[in-house]
Amino acid sequence: MIPISKPLIGPEEKAAVEEVMGSGILAQGPKVAAFEEAFADYIGATHAVAVSSGTEAIRLGLLALGVGPNSEVVVPAFTFVATATAVMMTGATPVIVDVEEDTFCMDPAKVEPAITNKTKAVMPVHLYGHPADMGPLVDLCEERDLALVEDACQAHGARWKGRRVGSVGEVGTFSFYPTKNMTTGEGGAVTTSEPQVAERLRLLRQHGLAGPYQYKMFGYNSRMTDIEAAIGLVQLGKLDGYNMARRMNASILTEGLEDVVATPTEAPWAEHVYHQYTIRTADRGGLWDHLGHNEIGCGVYYPHPLSEVPILEGKARVPEEPVVAKRLSDEVLSLPVHPGLTSQDLELVIMAVRGHLR
Ligand SMILES: Cc1ncc(COP(=O)(O)O)c(C=O)c1O
Repeated sequence: MIPISKPLIGPEEKAAVEEVMGSGILAQGPKVAAFEEAFADYIGATHAVAVSSGTEAIRLGLLALGVGPNSEVVVPAFTFVATATAVMMTGATPVIVDVEEDTFCMDPAKVEPAITNKTKAVMPVHLYGHPADMGPLVDLCEERDLALVEDACQAHGARWKGRRVGSVGEVGTFSFYPTKNMTTGEGGAVTTSEPQVAERLRLLRQHGLAGPYQYKMFGYNSRMTDIEAAIGLVQLGKLDGYNMARRMNASILTEGLEDVVATPTEAPWAEHVYHQYTIRTADRGGLWDHLGHNEIGCGVYYPHPLSEVPILEGKARVPEEPVVAKRLSDEVLSLPVHPGLTSQDLELVIMAVRGHLR
């Protein structure tokens, strides 16, 4: 079986974990501090605050910006459900807008009509590792005095106009779940270049504590462990190599498939890191079965637009039917693109897809 994703954990990660185990400091210690410094530096932000998951990164990122009950956050219709549920966890309402046909990301033209006097933030998602079209969103948020939050949970290292995503909005949010381009096991991080936001984030993630028993605000326990941070430091050192391999695998897949199926595109201002390599086909069910018989893992990310996810019904606002997201949710199929693939694996994937679609 060729898996759709595969975390690559080597002897370096294992040695880093053993070192922490022997140190006696297992959580929120020196490895977390070192990981935060290295990750902020990599992204090009002044601060990174490590937390326990990508969902927590979004939730605390929004809270640190003052998002809460009675406010709205604009999100794209085509994304993982946590983009919207993390908004709801703050007490705010997600407002769902459609996405673009080519990038699969938030359509900037759909954002302005969705803004009300409750709107506090706009949160594009850099879906599958392709940056959202940030230019018009940066301008709009500046004009309307809204916070711009990046859900970069799938896009570690991707670039928009040469800048790494997570350094463009007021806040960037990342997940280090095992299937991501880099992992810490579980974990997340918030990046920001605004010192007051960073300070609020540090308080929010640890009981509001500014020092021993000095509670500055209401806070939570959203800490990262030193075990996770130690894995993250090693993985961060490998990230550019992993992303290069993903880009190379994607170009081999595109060369082998573009004449038989709609392959992913890369906008001229974007550097895609291919968290997913996602094709579109009207015969998804047939291709899915065929790949299964050929022992090739594939995935549907995502089978429904957020506007049709039952747990969001009545809780999110949908100003306009997201027709592009609906179409994508019927047609997308992600193929293996991870750095663990061999050239023979890629050849098998190409042959299997061609065998069905030709
Ligand atoms: C776009 C997006 N947002 C948020 C999340 C949530 O991250 P986590 O699973 O680490 O909580 C994910 C994770 O899959 C994601 O893909």
